[in-house]
Amino acid sequence: MITADSDPQHRPDAQSASPAFREQPAIHETAGGSELCVIAPTFNERGNIQELVNRLRRCLAGLSWEVIFVDDDSPDGTAEYVRQLGLGDHRVRCVQRIGRRGLSSACVEGMLASSAPYLAVMDADLQHDEMLLPKMLDILKAGETDIVIGSRYVDGGGIGEWDTTRATVSRIATRFSRAVVPAELTDPMSGFFMLRRDTLVNCVHKLSGIGFKILLDLFASSPQTLSFKELPYQFKNRYSGESKLDTVAAWDYGMLLLDKLVGHIVPVRFVAFSIVGSLGVIVHFLTLGLVFKILGRPFIEGQAVATIVAMTFNFAMNNLLTYRDMRLHGWGWVRGLLSFYAVCSVGAFANVGVASYLYGTHTQWAVAAVAGIMLGVVWNYAMTQVYTWNKTGAATRSR
Ligand code: GDD
Ligand code: MN
Repeated sequence: MITADSDPQHRPDAQSASPAFREQPAIHETAGGSELCVIAPTFNERGNIQELVNRLRRCLAGLSWEVIFVDDDSPDGTAEYVRQLGLGDHRVRCVQRIGRRGLSSACVEGMLASSAPYLAVMDADLQHDEMLLPKMLDILKAGETDIVIGSRYVDGGGIGEWDTTRATVSRIATRFSRAVVPAELTDPMSGFFMLRRDTLVNCVHKLSGIGFKILLDLFASSPQTLSFKELPYQFKNRYSGESKLDTVAAWDYGMLLLDKLVGHIVPVRFVAFSIVGSLGVIVHFLTLGLVFKILGRPFIEGQAVATIVAMTFNFAMNNLLTYRDMRLHGWGWVRGLLSFYAVCSVGAFANVGVASYLYGTHTQWAVAAVAGIMLGVVWNYAMTQVYTWNKTGAATRSR
């Protein structure tokens, strides 16, 4: 059979037979692209957009630049606002993601949506010091280093008006990061840096894209140790709006570190799903104890109530933690819960079926039980991934 690949007519020249050959498009100098792209992830940052663009216009005057706001369908209409600005200035661009959340993955998609050879990542709320951008670009162009980072922890830098709790949390998180990034990096938590495109290309397929620590992800995913330079800056107060980081961000951070450490062996979502499942077992026993022992209802009733409570708990926790980046809201949440019940009921039958079969073939009871549970967990994980947190349904999911 002749396919497009094997048909010689589809090969304009013999060179293309080599997998290393990549045809380069002709570059038209008259309409050149930007040299620098600033990527700003946004969620409800409408009040900051105009000011950020004004400041970029001032500090990057004379340079060839663009800014891409990667917005996760903010209810405040950030994306539409950016597009309105873009009508008057082609350097202002918007990538709007629907049914998705996540600072890191937004930054990666923004970087991939640009052709610029130099890429900067920066918050949209003006807490970072945009005045550093020209200097960062000069350093990269001089070829001195792979990545230039705005740091709050080198001489001249500072964390501004953070309360002691946030400062302590950041310090602890930085200490944990040492498991995956070089110790000399003073501010691996920084969300403000610039890199060359080839540095990104070298590791982009290995990025986890989990949570909000994209710099750490880049360092931990790079095949070679990245050379870096840190420039001090003062972390300023937010210009407008509110911070998006909540306590659950700590969970995301743990998952990112875990993914970097064991992700090549087992999917980190499966680990999260199993942790939630184990908590569900505790919830089951607490409910059963309450209904059966304390309220004195029949065992079967206790077991039925406990099963429903535990399944609901598992669904809610998985939606909040395991599938945080694609969490369901409103009617989507209710539909998700029903599909979760359906999948887990089948999983429970499979679990009991396999366990009783194995027990019947004289397998040790504990081994039979564990095998049944494992089968149930894998089934529930695989099927809810498709039917409950359905990736293809993301665009139509209600908020
Ligand atoms: N697209 C998208 N999706 N953007 C998001 C999301 C999301 O789910 N969550 C937050 N952002 C955007 C915000 O709109 C803002 O522009 C930027 O990411 C930073 O979020 P903040 O909510 O302002 O976080 P912060 O100020 O607490 O933390 C920042 O400072 C840290 C320094 O400790 C972040 O930049 C961290 O990465 C940085 O480490
Ligand atoms: Mn902020």
